Amino acid sequence: MKPLFVLLISVAWTFTGAQHYYQGLMDYLENRLLAIEDRMQLWHDLSQRYHTEMKDFKKLTAEAMGGLRNDHSTLFKDLEGAGVRVDRVEREMDYVEAQTSPRACALKAEKVVEQEAWGLQEGRVEEEDEEEWEELLSRVSDCVEIISGIRSVKILKRVGSPKGMWTRDPRSSKVYVFNGTSGDTIYQFDSVRDFSRSLGITSSRNIRLPSDWSGPGSAVYNGFLYYIQQDSDMDVQVVRYDLLTGSVTDTAMFPVESHASVYNLNPETVADLAADDEGLWLLYAPSDSEPNISLAKMDAATLDIEQIWDTRCPRENAEAAFVVCGTVYVVYNTRLASRSRVQCVFDVNDMVISEEAPLLYFPRRYGAHTSLKYNPEEKQLYGWDDGYQIIYRLTMKRKLLA
Ligand SMILES: *[C@@H]1O[C@H](CO)[C@@H](O)[C@H](O)[C@H]1NC(C)=O
Ligand SMILES: *[C@@H]1O[C@H](CO)[C@@H](O)[C@H](O)[C@H]1NC(C)=O
Repeated sequence: MKPLFVLLISVAWTFTGAQHYYQGLMDYLENRLLAIEDRMQLWHDLSQRYHTEMKDFKKLTAEAMGGLRNDHSTLFKDLEGAGVRVDRVEREMDYVEAQTSPRACALKAEKVVEQEAWGLQEGRVEEEDEEEWEELLSRVSDCVEIISGIRSVKILKRVGSPKGMWTRDPRSSKVYVFNGTSGDTIYQFDSVRDFSRSLGITSSRNIRLPSDWSGPGSAVYNGFLYYIQQDSDMDVQVVRYDLLTGSVTDTAMFPVESHASVYNLNPETVADLAADDEGLWLLYAPSDSEPNISLAKMDAATLDIEQIWDTRCPRENAEAAFVVCGTVYVVYNTRLASRSRVQCVFDVNDMVISEEAPLLYFPRRYGAHTSLKYNPEEKQLYGWDDGYQIIYRLTMKRKLLA
């Protein structure tokens, strides 16, 4: 502003000091200067305001950005965590599927056979291999399911005598009915439906066997019938009968005293067979003085005995039993029939501990079971209860792996 002032003064002097003119000009200029100053103040205020507003805005955006960044990183972490969890669940599912598939046992058994063949062929069974082979053998019946409950019951029909047995071949849909406690005839139906629709039990294919079956303890698996044959005062025999060709393919003696029977409440059950992917199981009493039920594992094709266990389950008050994945479930009742219940469990791999196996009550029903036959494909029991043919559907859970 100074140079402007000096210029104005010199200009005033040049114009011969016209005092009034100078004064007027000075006033005019002062007013202009004041106006300019006012406007400058205004601008200053405005810019100040803009500046603070800008600062506030910047602060706000910075905060918002910070918040967004945090949110993003937590979101990212969450996503990562979820991804890891999904992976884990997927792996667990794979494992559960591999372990619980009904074929798991068969696959292991096949592996064992393969290894045996390889070992013999190559002649290279070393000590280490032998140990593995032993371990593998002991795990052949290592299914991982136990029964957790009885989901439902279906009373299908009432045919035949109060005592008897019925079962379904897990590998076909065919149903076999054993009326009474012995005989040389069995009745075949194409399906459970076929059986439930039929009038009585004779309106189907009747199969005459070359010898009598003794007791409701037979088993049918993959087109073969396994039954107990016991002629008076003779040893017990297990017979393997081909249902397709109608011929006996094998028999095996069993060291059982003639008048011992496996379940105290069902004296007609000489011995009880169960067949599945793992082989053939036989529940029996070696002699009448033996208080506990014995279990034998047999080769389903050759009827060789592979191993024998004392189940430590008493025969007293037992009415039936069945085998699921290498675990025996013994069903007890009272002489005056009340509720049947699984009260003793025996696992050949010692993997099911008694605390883990629930006390399993059967739904309140008429009398007492003569037989209970487990079907591994359907996970259900075929029961014969006072002449009623009943299906129990089971719920399963995984064994706790120690
Ligand atoms: C079933 O067996 C009982 C006795 O065991 C017999 O009286 C009855 O006639 C049999 N029923 C049929 C349809 O064979
Ligand atoms: C039968 O089993 C019980 C356990 O339930 C056991 O204490 C007893 O020693 C067993 N008896 C024989 C003869 O094995």
